Amino acid sequence: MDRGYRVAVVGATGQVGTLMLELLRERSFPASEIVAFASERSAGRTLEGVGATGEDLVVQPLTEESIQGFDIALFSAGGATSGEWAPRFAAAGAVVIDNSSRWRMKDDVPLVVSEVNPDALADHHGIIANPNCSTMQMVVALAPLHREAGIERLVVSTYQAVSGTGKRAVDELLDQSHALLHERPIDAPAAYAHQIAFNALPHAGSFADGEDHTDEERKLMNETRKILGDPSIAISATCVRVPVLNGHSEAVNVQTRERPRRPRGRAVSAGDRRERQGRGVRGPHPPRSRPRACAGHVDRLGQPSQGRGHQRDPARRARARTRPARRSPRALCRLSSSHPPSPTARRRLTRATSGPSRSL
Ligand SMILES: NC(=O)c1ccc[n+]([C@@H]2O[C@H](COP(=O)([O-])OP(=O)(O)OC[C@H]3O[C@@H](n4cnc5c(N)ncnc54)[C@H](OP(=O)(O)O)[C@@H]3O)[C@@H](O)[C@H]2O)c1
Repeated sequence: MDRGYRVAVVGATGQVGTLMLELLRERSFPASEIVAFASERSAGRTLEGVGATGEDLVVQPLTEESIQGFDIALFSAGGATSGEWAPRFAAAGAVVIDNSSRWRMKDDVPLVVSEVNPDALADHHGIIANPNCSTMQMVVALAPLHREAGIERLVVSTYQAVSGTGKRAVDELLDQSHALLHERPIDAPAAYAHQIAFNALPHAGSFADGEDHTDEERKLMNETRKILGDPSIAISATCVRVPVLNGHSEAVNVQTRERPRRPRGRAVSAGDRRERQGRGVRGPHPPRSRPRACAGHVDRLGQPSQGRGHQRDPARRARARTRPARRSPRALCRLSSSHPPSPTARRRLTRATSGPSRSL
C-alpha cells in the first residue's frame, strides 16, 4: 500500500501490543507501514505474520533515529516507557495514543473513550490517553445515565482477570492451575503476592504509602470523573483479582441526582438492543454476561470483529462457548482474544487442559 499512516506499536511483543497488531491487520487499518517496538531484550526478534498484510516484522529498539517519521504511535509498554518516549514521538510529529496510566490525569492530555467523550480529542497536544480497562467498559454503560439523571454516587466492585497484569500473570495462573490439578506444589508466586489459582485477591494493584485504596482503585475513581467531566461524583471502588484469564467483570451500584425518565436506571444504561450496540454495549438483557462469553469480542465492548468466522456465525460461536475446554482447549484461547495468551501460554493451556486428571 502506497498511501496511509506510518504506525508505531510500542510494546509490540506484549499482551496488549500483540492484540493491537492483530486488530490493525484484521481491520485493514490504512497503514503504509507498521513498525514494532519493544525493549532492548526483544530488539531484532522476528514477529511472524503480524504486519499489516501478514508480513513478518522485526522488533526495533527505541532510539532517536528509529522513532522519526511516524503519523501515529500506539503505546502499551508500561508507564515508565510512555513517560520517556511518548513526548519524544510527539515532538517528532506523531500523535501518541497511550494505554499506560502515565499521562491519563494530566490536564493537557485528553482521556478518551470513543463512545463517551470523543470531543475531548480536539484539545490534544500530541498525546492522547485511554483509561484503565475497568473504567473504560464501565463508563460506556454509565455515560447515558449520567447525561439523563446525573450520577451522584457509585459503589463499584470489580472482578478482574489476570490478563490485565500482563503476560507473566497469565503464565503464572496457567502454571499454578496445572500444578495444582496434578497435585504438585506450585512455585513461589511472582506476578502477585499470593497464589492466584483457585483464589481471589482483594487488592488488585498495589498500595502506595499511607493509602487505603490500591492504585487500581484510585485509577477507576479518578479516571471515571475525568471522562464523565464531573469531579463531584462520589466513588467507592474495590478491585479484586480473580483467576480468570480474560474479561473483567464489575458490579456497579449507582445513585442518581434525578429520577431517570425510564423506569429503573438499568433500562437507560442498557437501552434497547439496537441502541446498546450503537453505543458499544452488548450482552443479554439484563446484562449479566460471563467473562468467557464476552472475551474475544474486541470491537467496542462486544461487537464481533469481522475477521473471525467463529464469531460471525452464531452457531459456531455457541458451540465454541459450550465445548468442554478439555476436548478443545483452543476454544478458550479464541474466546479470549481481548488479551490473547502468548504462544507459550497457549501451549501450557493445552497441556493443562489435556492432562489425564481433568480440564480447567
Ligand atoms: N488500558 C487497559 O485496558 C490496559 C489493559 C492491560 C494493560 N494495560 C497497560 O498496557 C501496558 C502493557 O501491558 P501488557 O499487559 O501488554 O504487558 P506485557 O505483556 O508485560 O508487555 C509489555 C510490553 O512492553 C515492552 N517493554 C517493556 N519495557 C520496555 C522498555 N523499556 N522499552 C520498550 N518496550 C518495553 C515489552 O517488551 P519486551 O517483550 O521486550 O519486554 C512488551 O512488549 C501496561 O502499561 C499496562 O498497564 C492497559
